[in-house]
Amino acid sequence: MRTMSQTEQDAGAARTRKPRIAVVFGGRSTEHGISCATAGSVLQAIDSQRYDVVPVGITRDGRWVLESADPQRLAITSRDALPHVDDARATVTLAQQDSVSELVVHEASAVPRTLGEVDAVFPLLHGPWGEDGTLQGLLEMAGVRYVGAGVLASAVGMDKHYMKLVLQAHGLPVLPYTVITARAWERDRAAVVETVDSLGYPVFVKPARGGSSIGISKVHDRATLAAAVEEAAVHDPKVLVEVSAEGGREVECGVIQGFGTNPPDASVVAEIAVDPTHEFYDFAAKYLPEENTSLTVPADLPDALSARIQELSVQAFEVLSVEGLARVDFFVLPDERVVINEINTMPGFTPSSMFPRMWDASGLAYPELVDRLIQLALQRDTGLR
Ligand SMILES: Nc1ncnc2c1ncn2[C@@H]1O[C@H](COP(=O)(O)OP(=O)(O)O)[C@@H](O)[C@H]1O
Ligand SMILES: [Mg+2]
Repeated sequence: MRTMSQTEQDAGAARTRKPRIAVVFGGRSTEHGISCATAGSVLQAIDSQRYDVVPVGITRDGRWVLESADPQRLAITSRDALPHVDDARATVTLAQQDSVSELVVHEASAVPRTLGEVDAVFPLLHGPWGEDGTLQGLLEMAGVRYVGAGVLASAVGMDKHYMKLVLQAHGLPVLPYTVITARAWERDRAAVVETVDSLGYPVFVKPARGGSSIGISKVHDRATLAAAVEEAAVHDPKVLVEVSAEGGREVECGVIQGFGTNPPDASVVAEIAVDPTHEFYDFAAKYLPEENTSLTVPADLPDALSARIQELSVQAFEVLSVEGLARVDFFVLPDERVVINEINTMPGFTPSSMFPRMWDASGLAYPELVDRLIQLALQRDTGLR
C-alpha cells in the first residue's frame, strides 16, 4: 500500500482544515482604541464553524501579541477608557516555513510554538502603520493574503493630499485646498498664511494622514490659523487646509469589491447630522454614544442625487485601485453639488459604525459582510494583481 508523502498530507490538510484568519488590530496610530473596538465586534461575528480565528494585537509600541477574543474586553465604554492591546501577552511573529507563512508564539521560558499557516489576515487597523500600506507591504513580502486595499491604494487613501490629487486627475470633485509642509511652515509662514487667506475662511485644518477627526480644527480667521496648524502638526508634519463646505450636508456611501470580474457594489447612502453643540463631526460626536449624533440610513435625498453619490463612490474606489472595501465620504453643498471629502480603506467597523449599517440597510447583514470580505481575500492572488 502506498503511503502519502508529507507534501500530499499537507495539501490534504490544507483542503480539509478550516481557513485560518488572523484578525490584526490595535497598532501604533492614535486610532489604537477604535481599532480594538472594531476587532471586538468582528471577532464576535466571524463564523467559527467556517474559520479558525487567531486574534493578533499590535501594542502601541508595535509589538505583535496573541490577544484575547473577549468582546467585553475590547468594547468602548468612555473616552477615557478606550480598549487597548495588552502589553503583557506573548509575542507573535509571522515566520516563513517551507514557503508558507505561519504565526509563531513566543512565550517566556517555553519553546516557540506555531499556530499554523495563515490563510488570510484581516487587518482591522486605522491610521498610519496599518491602514496606510505599511502592514500591507509586510504581508505582500510574506506572500500572505489579506482583506482590503493593497499597498498603493492604502497609502494614497490614507494621505488626504495624494488622495485629492488622484481624484482630481480623474475629474472627480473635491474642495479647494492647500498643503502645508513642516518646512514651508518654518521657512515662509507669511506666504503660507497668504495662500490660506486666499482660500477664504472658514477653513478646515487637518493632519494629512489622520483619522477619527483627531487633530482637526475649523478655523474662522487668520488669528487662529497658527494654533490649528500646530495642533494638526502634532499628528502629521504634513497639514492640509481645505475650504469649509458651509451649509453642506455630510453623507457617506459604502463600496465592496465584486467577486471575480464583477464591478464593485455601492451601498445605500447615509447622512450624518451632528448635535449643534459640536462644530463638526469630531471625535466625541463620532464615538461617544451620549453625543446625539444622528445617522440616517438611508439618507433622505432625491433618487438622482443618491445615484450620483453611489456612482462617484464606485468611481473613487476604482480610480484609487482599492480592493475589498471602502467608505467614501461626501459633502452635498447647498446648491446640490457633490464633493468627495475622503475615502477610508478601513472604515470604522463596529455594528453601529456607518459602513456596516449602510450594508445592513442594503441587505447585507454584519456577519455576511465580514464573511464576504474574508472570501474576497481568500480568493485573490498574491503579488501584482
Ligand atoms: N472641508 C470641510 N467642510 C466642512 N466640514 C469638514 C470639512 N473637512 C472636514 N470636515 C468635518 O470634519 C470631519 C473630519 O474630517 P475628515 O476630513 O473626514 O477627517 P478624518 O479622516 O479624521 O475623518 C468631517 O467628518 C466633517 O464633519
Ligand atoms: Mg472622515
